[in-house]
Amino acid sequence: MFLQYPNKKTEEEILLGASKVNLVSVFGSGDNRLIRGDNLKILKSLLDDSSLKGKIDLIYIDPPFATNNHFTIGEDRVSTISNGKDDKTAYRDELVGSEFLEFLRERLIFLRELLSENGSIYLHIDYKIGHYVKIIMDEVFGIDNFRNDITRIKCNPKNFKRKAYGNIKDLILFYSKSKNPIWNDPKEEFTKEDIEKLFKKIDKDGRKYTTIPLHAPGETKNGPTGQEWKGQKPPKGRHWRSDPKILDEWDDQGLIEWSVNGVPRKKIYADERSGKKRQDIWGYKDYQYPTYPTEKNIDLLKSIILASSSPNSLVLDCFCGSGTTLQAAQEFGRRWIGIDQSDEAIKITQERLKNIPPSFFVNRTDYEYLEAQEHTSKEIDINTKSLSAHKFKERKEKILVKENLVRI
Ligand SMILES: C[S@@+](CC[C@H](N)C(=O)[O-])C[C@H]1O[C@@H](n2cnc3c(N)ncnc32)[C@H](O)[C@@H]1O
Repeated sequence: MFLQYPNKKTEEEILLGASKVNLVSVFGSGDNRLIRGDNLKILKSLLDDSSLKGKIDLIYIDPPFATNNHFTIGEDRVSTISNGKDDKTAYRDELVGSEFLEFLRERLIFLRELLSENGSIYLHIDYKIGHYVKIIMDEVFGIDNFRNDITRIKCNPKNFKRKAYGNIKDLILFYSKSKNPIWNDPKEEFTKEDIEKLFKKIDKDGRKYTTIPLHAPGETKNGPTGQEWKGQKPPKGRHWRSDPKILDEWDDQGLIEWSVNGVPRKKIYADERSGKKRQDIWGYKDYQYPTYPTEKNIDLLKSIILASSSPNSLVLDCFCGSGTTLQAAQEFGRRWIGIDQSDEAIKITQERLKNIPPSFFVNRTDYEYLEAQEHTSKEIDINTKSLSAHKFKERKEKILVKENLVRI
């Protein structure tokens, strides 16, 4: 199922048609990069770098939502995101309908090419356009790689004037590149009520527990889990959860509870569980006093990074706004790339990065700040394929010096 709309390009037209830019280093160095400019051209340029193509493990994006709004920042940034006449433009969200969808689709195609085979992408969007975006993402990433439509509760209930239910949620569409994404199986702590409800029994030492059947669905024809144990065969169509030798050990350790009718069940202790499986409705409300319009809650980003990246992962946000994703990645010692075209966003991100305290993982926030510069007719179009980021920078600097364009 595909969406059809006017001026929808083929993937080939998008991949070949987008123009590249020069990424001019302005200051800093290191594995992390903050880049100012239009993300389509920058993504195309990054894709030429063999150290990046197919190497990004996690992408989070929170693009404009096709709201036809103009987002501004007032003088008193802490208290208001207003529309006063002296306010500065943070960004304009002016593309709507199919133009917006094609804008996003173009970027998603490049992002897919940058994702590693174990990579994942999370796309934050609202309930008005989100369902169309889902169809576009199915097309770009494959419906089999769709993992979740996460509901994010963004605010407290409000008294909307519209004749409709109040809207307190937006959504995050989560896709993987393949069947085997990095997945750290995040858990939520049990609440007191959960423990009361789920672990109703108490043993002689006062520990709370529950019991589960000692057998699971599916028959084992020849293996040990289909054999008799303590004079009992597993019920028809089921097999023992473990080899009878292990069942003996569990029984010796008092981990099996026998009913009066002689039915064995496995004991599960509350204090041995790391929590319950995380579900697809999340909190993380927006800040009441953001530093940047539509700034997301940093804890949301931290949870995504912990769930879907490894310590050596590279994380990308090409609509990075105030840099929340970059901060979260930095705090957990992941490498990162952030892109935004707004001067205000870049300023606020730089300020944020300066203020990240040293963490257990990383002492200092080192990063290279680059600006996208349009290719000029004078300039040599360097084939950056297979150049490492470092080599790329070196060569680019030499050429720019020659052209007297350098700003480093
Ligand atoms: C919703 S905001 C992101 C907010 C961010 N998640 C945060 O927590 O602060 C969207 C951002 O996308 C940026 N943006 C929009 N179109 C862009 C483009 N073509 N290239 C780069 N950045 C773009 C805007 O400048 C804006 O900062």
